[in-house]
Amino acid sequence: MTVTAVVGAQWGDEGKGRIIDYLAQQADVVIRFQGGDNAGHTVINEYGKHALHLIPSGIFNPATQNIIGTGCVVNPQSLLEEMDHLAAAGVNLDNLWISSRAQMVLPYHRTLDILEEAARGKDTIGTTRRGIGPAYADKAARSGLRMGDLLQPDWLRARLDNALRTVNRKLEILGGEPVDGDALYELCLEFRARLGRRIVDTVPLIRRALEIGADILLEGQLGVMRDLDWGIYPYVTSSNPTAAYAASGAGLPARCIDRVIGVVKAYSTAVGDGPFPTELFDADGEKLREIGQEFGATTGRPRRCGWFDGVAIGYAAWLNGMTGLAITKLDVLDHFETIKICTGYRLPGGEVITDSMPDTPVLYQVTPVYESWPGWMTSTAHCRSWDDLPKQARAYIHRLSELAGIKVDYVSVGPEREQMFAV
Ligand code: GDP
Ligand code: IMO
Ligand code: MG
Repeated sequence: MTVTAVVGAQWGDEGKGRIIDYLAQQADVVIRFQGGDNAGHTVINEYGKHALHLIPSGIFNPATQNIIGTGCVVNPQSLLEEMDHLAAAGVNLDNLWISSRAQMVLPYHRTLDILEEAARGKDTIGTTRRGIGPAYADKAARSGLRMGDLLQPDWLRARLDNALRTVNRKLEILGGEPVDGDALYELCLEFRARLGRRIVDTVPLIRRALEIGADILLEGQLGVMRDLDWGIYPYVTSSNPTAAYAASGAGLPARCIDRVIGVVKAYSTAVGDGPFPTELFDADGEKLREIGQEFGATTGRPRRCGWFDGVAIGYAAWLNGMTGLAITKLDVLDHFETIKICTGYRLPGGEVITDSMPDTPVLYQVTPVYESWPGWMTSTAHCRSWDDLPKQARAYIHRLSELAGIKVDYVSVGPEREQMFAV
């Protein structure tokens, strides 16, 4: 039995979905532990190419139970669309479950997300506009609705009326239209008709899985640099993508987690606003975007691109208690004669820091300190083992591992399931 948390070690979009898809071939249970349909987890396998938003990336293995965990915020509308899309591709959905305690994202959360961003003027966060912030805010304010509420019509109606009392005032202040409670209640009953049988108390299910020694994967959304507490606040998401939250969000005891795999690109990308020290504004940045096809899986926005950030990986590895790294997109660097790695941040006073992450206002002012590594200038897409890799690529990976302070467990050299190997 192994419980493995798979978490993003950078600014998101590290390739978590494809790692989970690969590992789920051997897993009994996959649980998404936080976030909502702001996620875009791309998986390419025998079912084609799919950008998963809410459905765990283990869904392609019919023998794996897939649970949308309690720490998630679930938009039933977009979940239904995603289910239809996967069903049309022939994917079995009999093994998809939703925690009754997961929060619900309703249409007004998306409206509020858009209106709140507009109200921020030039100080936007660059959210995915999926209503994630407002839904988690309602959770903390105790005015959220949970997926299990759909199963209790009277309770649902009362909770909805309670929520709309404040929601409609907020909408009015921000210049939106008020929500009609009757129409929204009817919509919720439609959600219940289609999703009701999948909404379960996950505790008995996960408890039993642990008792029989099942292999469990905990799937994170986004990455540590957008963590609500440890990321570049306020340019963060409204939940905790770090491994410490995996147990709570998935619904199992913290001491059960055996492995924490940190997923990292062989370079850096970010979507949305906020400091991003290694961002490139030159031809190399453009080249990373073009070759890496760095466009958001959820919003289609061009991703900001930069060199690998060794300070961020050290921070991510420590904070998450990572046991190993999964390095993705190595092949994107095949075409670079020289590759840079950021090994420290120079503060405005001249001091260089390597082993701590400055807070947001300072991070805006740091200058990355780089070292240069020779590229390998040959395709790695066909490599299927450590020994297949060119020696310069192995040296580069060694350096990333050294900066993280942990070993490398997996390397990927292309987006397809078989373009990945254990080290
Ligand atoms: P996630 O949100 O962490 O699951 O990552 P995304 O799916 O948003 O972004 C990763 C992107 O890189 C997707 O388009 C993947 O298909 C692609 N990808 C993942 N691993 C590799 C790789 O090793 N090489 C290449 N070229 N593309 C990859
Ligand atoms: P995956 O799971 C990359 C970013 C947004 C914005 C900030 C807050 O595919 O890695 P939110 O909508 O969550 O309130 O936005 O976080 N963001 C992501 N960036 N990948 C994601 O998901 C993201 N989810 C949110 O761009 O900066
Ligand atoms: Mg993504």
